[in-house]
Amino acid sequence: MSLMKKRVKIGFVTAITLVVLIYFYKTVISFNSNSSPLANVLVEEQRQWPPTEDAVQRNLQIAYEAQNALLHQQRQELMHTKEQLAQLEEKVRSLQASTPRKYPKVKYLNYKNRKRILITGGAGFVGSHLVDDLMIQGHEIIVVDNFFTGRKRNVEHWLGHANFELIHHDIVNPLFIEIDEIYHLASPASPPHYMYNPVKTIKTNTMGTINMLGLAKRVMAKVLIASTSEVYGDPTVHPQPETYWGHVNPIGPRACYDEGKRVSETLSYAYAKQEKVQVRVARIFNTYGPRMHMNDGRVVSNFILQALRNETITVYGNGKQTRSFQYVSDLVDGMIALMASNYTQPVNLGNPVEQTIEEFAKIIRLLVGGTSEIKQISAMEDDPQRRKPDITRAKKRLNWEPKVPLEAGLRQTISYFRNELARSDRFQESSRKYFESPDLQRSRP
Ligand SMILES: NC(=O)c1ccc[n+]([C@@H]2O[C@H](COP(=O)([O-])OP(=O)(O)OC[C@H]3O[C@@H](n4cnc5c(N)ncnc54)[C@H](O)[C@@H]3O)[C@@H](O)[C@H]2O)c1
Repeated sequence: MSLMKKRVKIGFVTAITLVVLIYFYKTVISFNSNSSPLANVLVEEQRQWPPTEDAVQRNLQIAYEAQNALLHQQRQELMHTKEQLAQLEEKVRSLQASTPRKYPKVKYLNYKNRKRILITGGAGFVGSHLVDDLMIQGHEIIVVDNFFTGRKRNVEHWLGHANFELIHHDIVNPLFIEIDEIYHLASPASPPHYMYNPVKTIKTNTMGTINMLGLAKRVMAKVLIASTSEVYGDPTVHPQPETYWGHVNPIGPRACYDEGKRVSETLSYAYAKQEKVQVRVARIFNTYGPRMHMNDGRVVSNFILQALRNETITVYGNGKQTRSFQYVSDLVDGMIALMASNYTQPVNLGNPVEQTIEEFAKIIRLLVGGTSEIKQISAMEDDPQRRKPDITRAKKRLNWEPKVPLEAGLRQTISYFRNELARSDRFQESSRKYFESPDLQRSRP
C-alpha cells in the first residue's frame, strides 16, 4: 500500500473515532441535564425514594406514597364538602331570616317592669317550661345550657325572638353578663344522668353554683337555687318539713347529687350572709310533664314508655315505697312565686298527694289502655322508701299549692310521650330508607 493510501485510512479511522466520541459525550451531557424522559423518571424516583438495595422496602415506600396521595385527595374532598355544607347552612340561615316566624304571644312590659332573667339549664325539662312562662310574661330571657341533658328542641319555638337568647355554656366556667334575676337549674336531675359522671355532677352543683352566686353578687341580681327533696335522703320523718335535716348516705351512689345539692344550699346561705346576695331556695319534689326525658330512668317515664310499648311494667322492690308527683306547671308557678316573694328560707315545692309505686303503675296502665303485666324486680340501692313534702310553708309564705290533678297531668304527659315515640319511629324509618337506598349503595366504593 502506498504511503498516501495509508495516511487516508488513518485519517478516516481517526475521524470515525472522533464522531463516536462526540456522540457519547453528548449523550452523557444530555442525560445529566435531565433532558431525556428516562433520565427524568430516574431522577424523580431517586428524589422520592433514595436508592435502596432492599426491594421489599422499596415496594413498601411506594405503597406508603400511594396511600399518602390518596389521603391527600380525600382531605381535599372533605374540605370541599365542608365548604359546600357551610354554603348550604348560610342559605338555610338566610331563608330562615327572610321568613317571618310565628311566636307564642308575649305580653309587652315597659322598661321599668321588664327584667333580664338568666335561666341556667333552661333547655332542660323544668327550665324550658319556666322559659315559656317568663317569656309570655314579657321578660327578656337568657338561657345558658351545656346540653348535657337539655335539648335545643325544648326552646326552639323562641329561637330568633327579640326577647330570647340561648347561650351554649358550661356553668362550671364563669359567666359575665348583666341580669336582674337568676334561676339556677343547671344540673343533671335523674339518677342515670347524675351517676353517669358523678365528679361532673358535684362540680356543676358546687363550682357552677359558686359561679352563679358570684355573678349574682357582681351584678346585684336575685338568685333562685333549684334544690331537691333528695337533700332529705332516705327520710326518717314523714312528711318532710323544711326544718328536717335529712338522712343522706354521703358515700352512696346518689351522694354526688344529694350532697352536691346540700353544698349548693350551704353556699347560697354563705353568700347571703357574707356577700348580702338575695337568695331563694326551692326544694323540688318529683316533677313530671311534657319534655321530660324519655330515658331518664325514673318512675313516670319508665312506666309510661313500658305501657305505651305494651311491655312489662317493672317495679323496683315490692312497690310499697311511696312517691308524690307534681305537674310541671305547678312547679313553675311555685318557683316564680318564690322568686317574687321576700322569703329567704328553703321552701318545699311538691305535691303532698302520696301514692305507692304499685298504685302508680296501675294508674298509668289504665290511662294508656294497654295490657302490660306489672312485675317486681330487685330494689335499687339507697332508693328512698317514702317521699312526701310538707308544704305548709309554701302555702303560708307563697300562697301556693299544686292545682293540676294527677290524671289530667298524666294524660298530657302520655300524649307527649306517644308523639315522641311516633316521631322517633318516623325518624328511624326514614333514616333506614335513606341508608338502604340503592343510590347510596351505588355511590359507595
Ligand atoms: N325534675 C325533677 O323531678 C326535679 C326534682 C328535684 C329537683 N330538680 C332540679 O331541677 C333542676 C332541673 O331539673 P330537670 O328535671 O329540668 O333536669 P334536666 O336534666 O331536664 O335539666 C337540667 C339542665 O341543666 C343542663 N346542665 C347540666 N349540667 C350543666 C352545666 N354544667 N352547665 C350548663 N348546663 C348544664 C342540662 O343540659 C339540662 O338542660 C335541676 O337542678 C334538678 O336538680 C328536678
